[in-house]
Amino acid sequence: MPALKKLYEWLFSSLANQLLITYLLIITIALVAVTFWALFTIKNESITDLRNSLEVEAVNLALEIDNDLELDSKTARERIQKAVDRRATKLGVSITVVDRDGHVLADSSGEEAIAKKSSENTSKHAPKRENISNESEINDALAGIIAVNKRSSPATNTNWLYVAYPVRSAGVTSGVIRVGVPLTEVEQRLSRDLIVFLEIILATGILTVLISLWLAERFNRPVKEMSNMAKEISISGDMSTFLPVRRRDEIGELSLSFNQMIGRLREEEKLRQEFISNASHELKTPVMAIGSVVEALQAGAVNDPKLRDQFLASLERLVDRQRSLLTDLLDISKLDNTAPTEWQDEVDIKQIIEEAVDQVRVQAEKKELVLKVDLPESTEASALKIRGNGIQLLRAIVNLLTNAVNYTPAGGKIYLSAKSDHGNRLRITIKDTGAGISPEDINRIFDRFYRGEKSRTREAGGSGLGLAITREIVARHHGNVEVESTLGQGSTFSIVLPRFEKSSRNENNGSD
Ligand SMILES: Nc1ncnc2c1ncn2[C@@H]1O[C@H](COP(=O)(O)OP(=O)(O)OP(=O)(O)O)[C@@H](O)[C@H]1O
Ligand SMILES: [Mg+2]
Repeated sequence: MPALKKLYEWLFSSLANQLLITYLLIITIALVAVTFWALFTIKNESITDLRNSLEVEAVNLALEIDNDLELDSKTARERIQKAVDRRATKLGVSITVVDRDGHVLADSSGEEAIAKKSSENTSKHAPKRENISNESEINDALAGIIAVNKRSSPATNTNWLYVAYPVRSAGVTSGVIRVGVPLTEVEQRLSRDLIVFLEIILATGILTVLISLWLAERFNRPVKEMSNMAKEISISGDMSTFLPVRRRDEIGELSLSFNQMIGRLREEEKLRQEFISNASHELKTPVMAIGSVVEALQAGAVNDPKLRDQFLASLERLVDRQRSLLTDLLDISKLDNTAPTEWQDEVDIKQIIEEAVDQVRVQAEKKELVLKVDLPESTEASALKIRGNGIQLLRAIVNLLTNAVNYTPAGGKIYLSAKSDHGNRLRITIKDTGAGISPEDINRIFDRFYRGEKSRTREAGGSGLGLAITREIVARHHGNVEVESTLGQGSTFSIVLPRFEKSSRNENNGSD
């Protein structure tokens, strides 16, 4: 069946074809059903109308000839024949009158026809007439019922409708009047109607095809544009153009979302390039400096013990800086490359804070900073548990503490506290009395590689990744970092994390 397969492939090769075929099928089925129903109803109603008018005719004729039917004389029969002929020609019907035994008395097809039909042994008075009581409608009418029959006449090859009406006098059937009419007219009308219906079906079909093609084109064009653009982006990576949005419907919405996606991709691409160029720049600076120090040492400084120690110390600082930069870069790329997870491990924030404070204590003491830590009593300690990654959270807190130490001048104060916030959240606050952050900077300090104006000029300044890493880590723990700062007065950074919810399993473990 290759043809069928081809048709199947054609059908599913485009949305438009599927739409078209579906519309066509639905409309054709509906119209064919309506046509059948209409033709059937028209036919039934026409036949009922005809039947009623034939019956009226029969009744009228019966009123005219019922006396003659009783008389059974030649003149009476002639009168009957005359009445039959007159009515038959006037109405264009065929009328037959039979006596109570079923013998034909008169027929609109004429006396000759009756005579021809009659048998050869004729009586002196009248020809022996044909008995048609075997015809079902005559038979029924002789039994006293108004009978209706539809049958085809083999001679003319047409269908006839007959109504046979019993003429009754004094309670007995004295004869039957049968009125018949060919159904050609009804049939012609039906076939005319059928043709009209077929024409309507055809016209609707053509209209459907045209409308479907138009609709399909309307729907397909933007979809094709979108698919072409997606192909183009996947091949060449060119995201310089947006899709035109001409519509307000779902397809327009799709184009809009597509454009938003392109915008987002562009932004990400821009960030990626910025990141690479910033990272290379940051990596290059200490390497160049290391190179110059090494050159200076080689040039003779190595022989001067004072200079040598100075250069070695600065080499150590530079290597340290490079190491911490590389750690930051690796950390942030690791964070970027791992999908956010539902943490399983239980982490004690109190412990982590203590460890973080230990890490910055020496530095703080060197700068003569007062470091004040305010943690809840041990009974409440369980409130400071969350699910997460201890190493990452330690890193996040250390980054904030290091900043506080770095950006607070000697003699300043740093306060660190942790407490439950609104019952289901945990808030870790690090407040300093340092330099503060200007309103222009505050919106950007979480950006990668962004450093405040003052920090940038600092000799031992960081790379500007600390806060970006902190924010990534906190976001991965479903929390957020808040900042408040007044220039010259100090800053307050807060990490807000969702609290650990005790499951029954952990409760059991705890009581063990
Ligand atoms: N406590 C603070 N007080 C004043 N300024 C701050 C404070 N914390 C951060 N900043 C400002 O925000 C900038 C970005 O901080 P971030 O920690 O991201 O980078 P960094 O400290 O410069 O370098 P890194 O942390 O990577 O070594 C800093 O350069 C500084 O200008
Ligand atoms: Mg920092």
